[in-house]
Formats: sequence, structure tokens, C-alpha cells
Amino acid sequence: MEQTLSIIKPDAVAKNVIGKIIDRFESNGLRIAAMKKIKLTKEDAAKFYEVHKERPFFNDLCEYMSSGPVVVMVLEGENAVKKNRELMGATNPKEAAPGTIRADFAESIEANAVHGSDSLENAKKEITFFFAGREIL
Ligand code: TYD
Repeated sequence: MEQTLSIIKPDAVAKNVIGKIIDRFESNGLRIAAMKKIKLTKEDAAKFYEVHKERPFFNDLCEYMSSGPVVVMVLEGENAVKKNRELMGATNPKEAAPGTIRADFAESIEANAVHGSDSLENAKKEITFFFAGREIL
């Protein structure tokens, strides 16, 4: 059993499609082991996306991620990291395969509906960033 971190980003929360996105996970064999709705500060977002700090889109990305509430989840299941990435689709919704979350709900490459850990190692770090052990069930 693997765990991964998922974030429903501000654009998708604002569009009121939290339930529709969660249904994609549950219908495809992933369980929600932890979940909360929070609003990140710009500093929180900068810390979370630290690996991208030299990229040209970093400042806009941090502004966007702190622009409204997000829903943060730990998803659990077999091959959860890879399965979540498949369900999400490509970073740019214009390139995302039909039927993926980003193809169906994302606005743009920046406001792209969901985040998902890209490796098991990063999943562990990202889960620890948001959740205490007692919150993961
Ligand atoms: P990245 O880790 O490349 O993509 P993913 O979320 O699919 O793992 O990028 C992180 C986030 O940075 C991405 O979800 C949206 C934002 N981003 C931009 O705003 N512009 C860009 O050109 C890229 C590549 C990413």
C-alpha cells in the first residue's frame, strides 16, 4: 500500500468541483486517508514549491496557490503515486488526455486543478509538510 499527497487547487475549489474530483480518486481504487480544507499563505506555498524557486513561473504560482482555499488529501492505494498522476493528466490541460481531471476541470497550465506528488520520496515529504501522523487514518 502506497500513500501520496493530493491538493485540489484554488481554481477547482472555487468552481465547486471538490466532490467530482474526489469521486475520480475513490472510483479508481484510491482511499482518502486524510483530508482538510486550508488557505495557504504565500510563504507556505513558497516552501511547498521550493524545488521550483528558480523557475520563471515561481512567484505567480505562489500567488495563485495562496489566492483561495485548497483541499489537501493523503490518498492511499496500490501504486497510489502513479495512479494519481495518471488520473490527474498532463500539467498543461491542453495536453492532458481526455477524461483526466486536468482535461475536465483545469483552467490553464498554472490553474490546473490538482497537485499530485511525483515520486514516493516526494510524497513522504509532502505528506509530512501538511499532516501529523495522528491525522492520517
Ligand atoms: P510541475 O511539477 O512541472 O508539474 P506537475 O504539477 O504536473 O507535477 O509544476 C508544478 C506546478 O507549477 C504546475 O502544476 C503548475 C505550475 N507551472 C506553471 O505555472 N507554469 C509552467 O510552465 C509549469 C511547467 C508549471
